[in-house]
Amino acid sequence: MKKLALVLVLQLSLTCLFAQVHQMSKGYVVPEDTLVQQKIKKWEDLKFGLFMHWGTYSEWGVVESWSICPEDEGWTQRKGPYGATYSGYKKAYENLQTTFNPTKFNPDKWVRAAKDAGMKYVVFTTKHHDGFSMFDTKQTDYKITSPKTPFSANPKSNVTKEIFKAFSKENFMIGAYFSKPDWHSENYWWPYFPPKDRNVNYDPAKHPEQWQKFKDFTYNQISELMTDYGKVDILWMDGGWVRPKSTIDTAVDWQKAITFNQDIDMPKIAAMARKKQPGLIMVDRTVAGQYENYTTPEQQVPAASLDHPWESCITMGNSWSYVPGDKYKSANEIISLLVKIVSRGGNLLMNIGPGPDGDWDPVAYSRLQQIGKWIKINGEGIYRSAAVAPYSENNIYYTKSVKNNATYAFFTSDKESLTLPATITLHLNDKAKVKKISLLGINKKLKWTADKAGTVVIQNSPGTLTQSGLLNAAVYKIKY
Ligand code: GLC
Repeated sequence: MKKLALVLVLQLSLTCLFAQVHQMSKGYVVPEDTLVQQKIKKWEDLKFGLFMHWGTYSEWGVVESWSICPEDEGWTQRKGPYGATYSGYKKAYENLQTTFNPTKFNPDKWVRAAKDAGMKYVVFTTKHHDGFSMFDTKQTDYKITSPKTPFSANPKSNVTKEIFKAFSKENFMIGAYFSKPDWHSENYWWPYFPPKDRNVNYDPAKHPEQWQKFKDFTYNQISELMTDYGKVDILWMDGGWVRPKSTIDTAVDWQKAITFNQDIDMPKIAAMARKKQPGLIMVDRTVAGQYENYTTPEQQVPAASLDHPWESCITMGNSWSYVPGDKYKSANEIISLLVKIVSRGGNLLMNIGPGPDGDWDPVAYSRLQQIGKWIKINGEGIYRSAAVAPYSENNIYYTKSVKNNATYAFFTSDKESLTLPATITLHLNDKAKVKKISLLGINKKLKWTADKAGTVVIQNSPGTLTQSGLLNAAVYKIKY
């Protein structure tokens, strides 16, 4: 039995390597609401956020939700003892509700680790595509606070509330991930028909009353999240196939397959949500317009800076959700990603998937700790910065601080330890007179020359930096 479980875990973790990738949309529209504009500005300064995918799927250590989607894709495969028939599998999957008991859940511990690493906002999966609500919704019993779920007896069972409360206390911006599609709702996958793919399984135009029920359900759930969970800054809506037919981009593969109009009336949802949460940033992913206030390139970094607010969401391991033994990126890789993203004007939303016991893999804590050591010294070049030409030259990335007008040059390395060459040449776009250059974390005068064209040559004490906080990327601060 143990062996079978191990095989199951291994097979399922392989599945997670192939994730469904939501591409970025084109055609950004500046939101009309000035409060929204202000909040976006504030959010853009934060640069580094924490994403968490957590649900009953973590019990099997499988990719979130997708194994109940009847599409034949790498990431939707059903494996293990329940995989033989679709209906048997879905039943067993939904039955995970009756064993979910993450007794180690302690959001304060997550906040401490995230804060120490320099993260400034959080986005949490209040409900993923499988429809299991990680909050105390009144709209369904398929939720963490249902008496069917053992964890409901725990005083912290409304985990969304606890997470938002704990992170709010430390002034994080709060983001609610919410899946528009719901593969548990009988008004999305109507049991009269079998589900065929990720989409609604009946034509809403033919069955408008049924679709209206789904719209009401969605509206009510979002209304609960906007009412009973304190201040919410971001409503991060996934599942871009739920969209008005007129917005479908047939150049995108998964959008081509959308047959029905799945309009859930975003203007109505937005009006309600922003009444309760003034200035709310809405991220109706891939549906360009008033409700996609920033774009979300997924598992990728755009090749150059973009002309609108954006955030790369990237997993710390290979999978969005918890997979035992997942391979985590090194702290150096994460720092390099952060630097690259920030130098192009974006934010990094780094995902960690809590396990079925309610805690993270210890590796995640250790990565965050290492990042924290670096960011305490070098964060002044990260936060409240903007992209600045020439953006990057080889392994050097630039930012410009909005605060003090200094330019920062990040000398990155593909290794944790960093070997500084005897000289570093920067080609700054800024023709203003350079007054001072320093290396963050080192209290020593640097020798340098600068010419009128903006070429700066810095003399280093060549060698390997071994001091904690100077590893990974050395940061030169250039003052004018
Ligand atoms: C991918 C995954 C989805 C996940 C999302 C996060 O689209 O398929 O499950 O929630 O990435 O960005």
